[in-house]
Amino acid sequence: VTDRRRAAVLGAGGYIGQEFARMLADHPYFDPVLLVSGDRTGGRRLEEVWHLAEEVPAALRSQRLVAATPKAVAAEADIAFSALPGGVAVPVESALSRLGVAVFSNASDHRADPGRPLLIPEVNPEHLGILPRGSRSAPIITNPNCSATGLAIALKPIVRPLDPRTVHVATYQALSGAGFPGVASLSIADNVVPFIAGEEEKLARETPQLLGSPRGRRIVPAAITIHPQCARVGVREGHLEAVTVLARRRPTLAEITSAWRSFDPLAGLALPSAPHPPIALRAEADRPQPLRDRWAGEGRARGMQVVLGRVRWTPPTLRFFLLSHNAVRGGAGGSVLNAELAEAKGILGARPSRGR
Ligand SMILES: NC(=O)c1ccc[n+]([C@@H]2O[C@H](COP(=O)([O-])OP(=O)(O)OC[C@H]3O[C@@H](n4cnc5c(N)ncnc54)[C@H](OP(=O)(O)O)[C@@H]3O)[C@@H](O)[C@H]2O)c1
Repeated sequence: VTDRRRAAVLGAGGYIGQEFARMLADHPYFDPVLLVSGDRTGGRRLEEVWHLAEEVPAALRSQRLVAATPKAVAAEADIAFSALPGGVAVPVESALSRLGVAVFSNASDHRADPGRPLLIPEVNPEHLGILPRGSRSAPIITNPNCSATGLAIALKPIVRPLDPRTVHVATYQALSGAGFPGVASLSIADNVVPFIAGEEEKLARETPQLLGSPRGRRIVPAAITIHPQCARVGVREGHLEAVTVLARRRPTLAEITSAWRSFDPLAGLALPSAPHPPIALRAEADRPQPLRDRWAGEGRARGMQVVLGRVRWTPPTLRFFLLSHNAVRGGAGGSVLNAELAEAKGILGARPSRGR
């Protein structure tokens, strides 16, 4: 009998940690046996600390969050999904990797490390090739910044037809992007804050890296300059982005929309959380909207589709809006899909067979 892999969720009391619990509770490959807390939620049942709008998953409702050292995690789990804050993540995730636990991380700490793949399965699966071969440590695979995720998915199909030189992007980012409890209500009600610490730097650095190519054990970034301007808005979930692409080539508008519509690079792989297609193109004049489009995608892939709209092509300038669920596509769901791809590619080794 082949069982689900035993999984730990690190930072399970926070926003992304709870999305992990929601997405993994009945996952066909991974069984969340351990919910690891920080100081605030330690010792409490998941239902007592739950703050997502969706129901707490029945299978995990009574499970207690526990403090656990990397050694204690490694004794229980084969794989870890990490929602640890930046700064805290490196020592914990590195220790787990050395103990043979594969880590799928949301933290920005490892993203600049040239030996760690920054992965979106539809965009750059070939970047997994930079993982060291024959290493005794288990892999650490990170997903990119939540705004860079939506942008890289939207740009990937049009890189070839347009050959973008420069991309300007203005973001309208949801409150949950700052975690729980996040931005103080009196700072954001009746307001828009035109600054998110470190966000513009992450978008500018990670997007060309995601669209880049492996050379040996390194990734050579794509020759595209990103000019971001990031703002926090009073929306609960879903990052909206206004994108302006300056192109070197001049395809027709039909060629551009067809590149988006036909994009489905994971079509043959049957990964449980992969949306098909990963991009939904809306024709209405007033879409995408966070309220209406954040949960695009079906079944396990709910919230995993990136929704595009308001496409305008005045060569050499392409303009459009995109919407991507920051905590699902840009957070927990991105890591779960990365783990599903790693499983499908045999990177996690044989599935455990424990018998019953
Ligand atoms: N929010 C998003 O949309 C988003 C998207 C992509 C990536 N990320 C990244 O994902 C990570 C988590 O973000 P978040 O939004 O979920 O933040 P969050 O709501 O603040 O949650 C972080 C959680 O980490 C726990 N924690 C802190 N130190 C710990 C430790 N030493 N061991 C175990 N748990 C510890 C805290 O637990 P206690 O509550 O028990 O103290 C807290 O619940 C961050 O690295 C963030 O940058 C977030």
